Amino acid sequence: MTHLIGGISSAGRALPKIDGKSFQVLRSQGPYLWDMQGARYVDTALGFGASMLGHADTAVVDATCIALRNGPMPSFAHEAEEAAAAMLARFTGELSKVIFLNTGSEAVHLACRTARVATGRQLIVKFAAGYDGWYDQVAFGNAGSGAAEMAGGVRPHRDGILLLRYNDLADAEQLFREHTDIAAIVIEPVLANAGCVVPAPGYLKALSDLAHQHGALVVLDEVLMGFRLHCGLSGTLLGADPDLATLGKAIGSGVPVAALVGKPEIMNLFERGRIVRAGTYSGAPPACAAVLASLTRLEKCDYPGLLARGDQLREDIGQAFAAQGAHISTSGYGTVFTLWNSPTAPRDYAEASHIADNQWTLDLHVALRKQGVMSMPFAYGRIYLTFAHDQTAFETLRQAYAGAAKQMLKR
Ligand SMILES: Cc1ncc(COP(=O)(O)O)c(C=O)c1O
Repeated sequence: MTHLIGGISSAGRALPKIDGKSFQVLRSQGPYLWDMQGARYVDTALGFGASMLGHADTAVVDATCIALRNGPMPSFAHEAEEAAAAMLARFTGELSKVIFLNTGSEAVHLACRTARVATGRQLIVKFAAGYDGWYDQVAFGNAGSGAAEMAGGVRPHRDGILLLRYNDLADAEQLFREHTDIAAIVIEPVLANAGCVVPAPGYLKALSDLAHQHGALVVLDEVLMGFRLHCGLSGTLLGADPDLATLGKAIGSGVPVAALVGKPEIMNLFERGRIVRAGTYSGAPPACAAVLASLTRLEKCDYPGLLARGDQLREDIGQAFAAQGAHISTSGYGTVFTLWNSPTAPRDYAEASHIADNQWTLDLHVALRKQGVMSMPFAYGRIYLTFAHDQTAFETLRQAYAGAAKQMLKR
């Protein structure tokens, strides 16, 4: 009898058994995972993007361990809290005020509450097929759900949340004709959880402008994309004009920490006691130490170099399949992308759901795993690359994908 529900603590971690054997991690370091038998895998799931520095980055682990030894939760303000906030604010532009939390879901939850108090309005908008965490309000319309299809001409809504079609400005204009009391649009800059669908040129700027014209706030959900394209918010790099943003994953390099950042005139509402916030573990010393160490490291990292190496890998994977007579495509960026069993990459969720091929992705996962590469096993999964993925890891990936293509297409 097992006691842990489903054998995992988060539903997204399910992996298929191979030859009757389930997969459990013994340890993870740099670009690698080791299983219970000691076999090593180049990892492309990377805690679902929880680190840009690879697993167990030495500087982050050392700083976190020191903080743990000094006391993991001292109840009161501690020195690293303001230092970590100041460090984070160096990379978030006008969004210079910071509240630390523990998870991305919490950060989105607080962002929505903040927008409602700041505007005095109730409605929140999120993208159909987007993922903004698992809290009740926003856990709706995720990729693969019926609502995400937005079929039938009626805009799906639940508990004050409305869905909006990604990359469809006409739908956003229609939304603001339908509703005059929208508090905020939660914008994932890239529809990453639906397979890295990238924003059309000018889309994020036009959507931000439209929201502002109608008195709504722009909340950038950067939990997945933050610090993934450059040392800062990906959404602003891609044209969005946010009032608030949520961060997580990369800012802690695997140590649980998240943040809400925002413009001072909005975040002042907390200081004036207008918005409730709390959290036993929010801003705990290990989390702040991880933020300081992660951002100190990321600031010096060569983002253009890693993006270029990742783009080259995308190209090489495509060619490996083409050599076997199959034409696949990729969407996203060199540090996070999705593979599609289709010659053209999707430009929106309708195209993504049309070409999503779970069996193909699962077969690819099995073929890769047998060759020492770990990947996410479902169609909207992503390949995450980090600064720990060195030349050796890239070469292993190249060879494993070429081997997988041969194996999957052998007649
Ligand atoms: C865009 C986005 N927002 C929010 C979340 C929720 O973050 P967490 O899993 O830390 O609660 C995620 C998690 O993957 C995410 O990708």
